[in-house]
Amino acid sequence: MTSVQPETKPARPVMPSATPDVRADLTAKAQAIIARYPAGKARSALLPMLHLVQSADGYVSPEGVAFCAETLGLTKAEVGGVATFYTMYKRRPVGEYLVSVCTNTMCGVLGGQKAYDTLAEHLGVGHDQTTPDGKITLEHAECLAACDYAPVMTVNYEFYDQIDADSALGLVKRLESGERPQPTRGARLCSFKETSLQLAGFLDERDGANADGPAGEPTLAGNRLAERTGVSVPGFDPNTPIKPVPPKAAPASPAAKAPTVPTPAKDSKPAGDDPAPARAATPSNAPGPTAGATSNAGGTANGAVGPANPATSPATGATGSATGATGSASGPAETSQTSGEKPAAEAFTYRAPVEGSEPYGAGSKRVASGAGAPEGFTIKGNEDSGLYHGPASPSYKRTVAEVWFDSIETAEAAGFVAWNAPADVRAARKRAAKEGKK
Ligand code: FES
Repeated sequence: MTSVQPETKPARPVMPSATPDVRADLTAKAQAIIARYPAGKARSALLPMLHLVQSADGYVSPEGVAFCAETLGLTKAEVGGVATFYTMYKRRPVGEYLVSVCTNTMCGVLGGQKAYDTLAEHLGVGHDQTTPDGKITLEHAECLAACDYAPVMTVNYEFYDQIDADSALGLVKRLESGERPQPTRGARLCSFKETSLQLAGFLDERDGANADGPAGEPTLAGNRLAERTGVSVPGFDPNTPIKPVPPKAAPASPAAKAPTVPTPAKDSKPAGDDPAPARAATPSNAPGPTAGATSNAGGTANGAVGPANPATSPATGATGSATGATGSASGPAETSQTSGEKPAAEAFTYRAPVEGSEPYGAGSKRVASGAGAPEGFTIKGNEDSGLYHGPASPSYKRTVAEVWFDSIETAEAAGFVAWNAPADVRAARKRAAKEGKK
């Protein structure tokens, strides 16, 4: 009688993270990650730690889970719960190149699905599977947040834009032959493990491994169209801060309870109309050499928002954050208004808009919405908010000029307030503007 031998599983290879040298390196890097968080909050380091583990093992291995748990004082179940929640943490070994093809709506209808199918057939693998040589893992991805470049695919999270089935196949064939094709934008291609180390927060020092750049034309297309057609959001101020939540008062005893103070009516205007406090100086808006301490509401500061500011010329201002809409590093400072005298709030008088009229005197002009600036008029006045914007204002491009002024003095004489005036002044103006409309 022959005995049936129990089937034995092939032994798992030893994970790099379990070898002494790699473990020592991981431990040192883990401590560097933990040091980025406040004392006692080590568990917050779990997400970069999981990338760190992937940089050694190529996936979140059982050894990696145990390492994270031990290092951060968590249970393995807690680590596993996080690792299985996010798709960027892999539970099976990933190849040298993780090829992700977006098959979501935009990319799908433009050819992303066809590209994915072509690659799956060529590689002989399906979603989340790796070629037998360990070179390429294929996955279909949900929206990769690059719909403006659809259809897109990524290799180790670097973008290859506007692909089709043929170009996707060509790209994968180059990977198979040992090449590392340059991504359409961003840094050069790394291996999955190298990318994981960057995602853990460790700068890759090699040439071209890190990159940045301005937004591309497809991303800016909507912005350009809005500019051409004069579409903007009335009174929108992108610098409007999020209102802080007032601290909760300690519960008072019934006897000591203060009389109820009626709550003021809520402002129904969009948040962009809310007054913003004066911004602190930052590298992008810090007073420049011309914004001396002598500035005042109608003096030096006024010149700072004049039309000559090259930082906000159409050539650069249109590109928003990509090129720095304020860009005051090369132009005169624009925030000196905030240190000047507060214009008198009661000076504001609301005048009902009348097309073609000049309700604020000879230095003002009203033109049809989107018609552009009349010759010699550069200051935009917004009657909803009672604010005026010079070309240095970050909201200048977006602000609809309900009335144009030929100078800041004229705008202020008409009762308008600088976009960057102190918050209480702007709030008073806005109230006055609302009152005037009643
Ligand atoms: S649908 Fe593909 S990037 Fe958004």
